Amino acid sequence: MRLVGKNVVVTGGAGLIGSYLVDCLVERGARVVVADDFSKGRRSHLAGVIDRITIREGDLEQAAAMARALDGAEIVFHLASRAYGIGYSSQNHLALLAHNERITNNLLDALVRRPVPHLLVCSSSCVYPDDGPDTVAELPVFCGEPEQANWGYGWAKRLLEQKAALLAQATAMPLTIVRPFNIYGERYRWVGAASQAIPMLVKKVMDGDDPVVVWGSGTQRRNYVHAADCAETIAAVVEAGFVGTVNIGTEDTVSMLELAGTICRLADRRPRIVTDPSRPEGRRVKSCNAALLRKVYPGLEQRISLEQGVLRMIAWHAAEFGTVT
Ligand SMILES: NC(=O)c1ccc[n+]([C@@H]2O[C@H](COP(=O)([O-])OP(=O)(O)OC[C@H]3O[C@@H](n4cnc5c(N)ncnc54)[C@H](O)[C@@H]3O)[C@@H](O)[C@H]2O)c1
Repeated sequence: MRLVGKNVVVTGGAGLIGSYLVDCLVERGARVVVADDFSKGRRSHLAGVIDRITIREGDLEQAAAMARALDGAEIVFHLASRAYGIGYSSQNHLALLAHNERITNNLLDALVRRPVPHLLVCSSSCVYPDDGPDTVAELPVFCGEPEQANWGYGWAKRLLEQKAALLAQATAMPLTIVRPFNIYGERYRWVGAASQAIPMLVKKVMDGDDPVVVWGSGTQRRNYVHAADCAETIAAVVEAGFVGTVNIGTEDTVSMLELAGTICRLADRRPRIVTDPSRPEGRRVKSCNAALLRKVYPGLEQRISLEQGVLRMIAWHAAEFGTVT
């Protein structure tokens, strides 16, 4: 599918992944509308394209804001959601479900009245149960519970997927569902104790914490993809005309202890690194089976390695907090 000249709406387009996606879409010649309430996104993330996009600011939990956001869209990339780190997520299941359900229901109401030629919804690897294989393929997700640490968020994503599928069937609207694994990058907006793991660890190291405390056993393993690579993949999957559900990630994993060590090495810091098993750590291993993704997008590659990404996060710390100690 050619994106050039298309009227494209990106909900959550000022956020971490969304803002990189906006860059990709503008580069491909799409006419891009960003719909965001800037609760977590920032205008500065869009600085490189600000004169070539339209911003429709509004809270998509409000039906009128959603209808206004999607007006005139030919392709909708739906990324807006309340998403936080495990510390917040594991304590706020109902609130996360309720917020994200309101956004989903407004999306459905708007699109059932006016279907678009293509819809992409951004789900998450949190839809997968904890007791599945370590390297997860695109399994059906309505067996067992979603990831326990992200129970409410995981259910919100499962419901988003299912409702979008019902909408697509009822309106004959082509639907792409993507399930990113762990995504990070220097457009992350710090949200204190609710922040995600890489920004948390980078902040601890760069703030000079000694010891640096890693949550859980520290042996839990994750697959990390930089947000710019994730966004490029999302654009490529839609460009390929893919209709269906696909993971976004790779098989490589790193443990939280290894990650903390890498951050210290690249920042040239030597604190003690200890673990706190009383803190949540989520599932033991979360690795992405990317076989289908490689078929859909043979050009898949990690343009930004984890080491390069960590260096960018060290620079992020200086920009976000003003000083490097
Ligand atoms: N970052 C990850 O590791 C990861 C992994 C899997 C899935 N995802 C999903 O990818 C999508 C993008 O995530 P992200 O990491 O860029 O998060 P993010 O928080 O940086 O981006 C979400 C954007 O949505 C906006 N938003 C939130 N609630 C809104 C509302 N009610 N109205 C309008 N705008 C609203 C925020 O301001 C923000 O700009 C989300 O759907 C998220 O659930 C993220």
